[in-house]
Amino acid sequence: MDFNTQVAPLGGLSKVETDALLVVLAGTSVPVGLDKTVAAALKAATDAGDLTSKPGQTLVLHHVARIQAARLVFVTSNNASPKAFQKAVGAGLAALKTGGSKHVAVALAGADVTPAHAEALALAAAEAVYVYRHTKPSAPAAGPLSKVTMLCTAAAKPDVDIGLTRGAAIAEGVTLARECANRPGNHCTPSYLASEARRLGKGFGLKVEVLDRKDVEKLGMGAFLAVAQGSDEPLKFIVARWQGAGKAEAPVVLVGKGITFDTGGISIKPAAEMDEMKFDMGGAASVLGTLRAVAQLKAKVNLVGIIAACENMPSGRAVKPGDVVRSLSGQTIEILNTDAEGRLILCDALTYAERFKPAAVVDIATLTGACVIALGHHRSGLFSADDALASELVAAGDAALDPCWRMPVDDEYDEALKSNFADMGNVGPRAGGSITAAMFLKRFTGKYAWAHLDIAGTAWKSGQAKGSTGRPVGLLTHFVLSRAR
Ligand code: BES
Ligand code: MN
Ligand code: ZN
Repeated sequence: MDFNTQVAPLGGLSKVETDALLVVLAGTSVPVGLDKTVAAALKAATDAGDLTSKPGQTLVLHHVARIQAARLVFVTSNNASPKAFQKAVGAGLAALKTGGSKHVAVALAGADVTPAHAEALALAAAEAVYVYRHTKPSAPAAGPLSKVTMLCTAAAKPDVDIGLTRGAAIAEGVTLARECANRPGNHCTPSYLASEARRLGKGFGLKVEVLDRKDVEKLGMGAFLAVAQGSDEPLKFIVARWQGAGKAEAPVVLVGKGITFDTGGISIKPAAEMDEMKFDMGGAASVLGTLRAVAQLKAKVNLVGIIAACENMPSGRAVKPGDVVRSLSGQTIEILNTDAEGRLILCDALTYAERFKPAAVVDIATLTGACVIALGHHRSGLFSADDALASELVAAGDAALDPCWRMPVDDEYDEALKSNFADMGNVGPRAGGSITAAMFLKRFTGKYAWAHLDIAGTAWKSGQAKGSTGRPVGLLTHFVLSRAR
């Protein structure tokens, strides 16, 4: 997808040459200063009852006299916020989907275009053209859309350009994360994630290192190994580094849960919807997507992505409930439930992260069903004892329209992890399950500023629209960029 900005004041929209001119109407009245010809078309449409001010409506008009664009599209929006704008653009592009528009130019009527609007436009356009085809080549293509222009004033253009460039990079990252996560477990294996990381490394100048089982054994990652031991699929421990700032500058480290399929292991999951556990590497996918976005933008920041990848399978060699393992940190863990495997692979990756002397570490994981119960599918769960880091992440999520919500990490919740046979058990009671999972991770993060994002409710959609969302690439990219020079 090509993106650009073009100076076109609201009063000159009829002169914009494009396949489709999409005018987002923020508000109920005809916007002041709107191009006379466009305004006349709008008035005629509303007078005829073909367009009301109800948000989410679209109207496609063809070859309107004295309008250069081949199509004039009106979309009504709730308001002028970037969030409403993103939705409206999505509706407008959907209305054009099966048509012949290769180039769409988008105007916001009734408010000034900001960088956040341009970013929202890039995300909406990427969303509109994404089709999963890897194992379904017969899926109909998305349509001919290949170029999107954000129209704005000359004064706004420099900033809007920056927003659009950022949005385009995030959109590429989101698409990468979606594609990885959508691929089924027999395609998206730990080895596949490693090869994707290497491919990114070549394409974007990342240093990529992949550790195999032998390396991980030598290091002493007993918790990660315990999860992987039930599977015939080789584990991979992936480290990808973007060096955008000076060598001395402490990096941000992102740690992704890369369970490429979670059966639950011996504590096996019920059959219904188990297929969705192919998305259990959504955290890992978001780390790859963020690395891509940050590297594409050549951000002046140091970023390390760590992915612990394996399958969680039952077998004659699988870890059993009650087994005790020694983590890389030296702390022992009684594995009471083999389905609480995410925290086991993450704890060793979090200990490994210490070697980078990080400025901050954020882990991202489809960690608990309890988080879905707590927050549903709109906001990711954010867990951190560090108020400043938590605020940064909340702000990044808001700015990226990829929101999260802070959850508690009081010491009292930690008591649920007591074990008679090891330093800790790997599960607590059902109540507050997403919090005890975070408390477990917290025990491995004493040496740096740390936050945990539970994306179990936000990384994918179930039902008719089943598929990965690519979240939280937007949140993470904003966070990392906010730390750039
Ligand atoms: N990958 C799952 C979490 C999950 C469940 C994500 C449903 C999305 C939807 C994780 O590995 C898991 O199985 N967690 C258990 C933890 C429990 C055994 C303490 C859960 O949430 O049930
Ligand atoms: Mn599990
Ligand atoms: Zn899992």
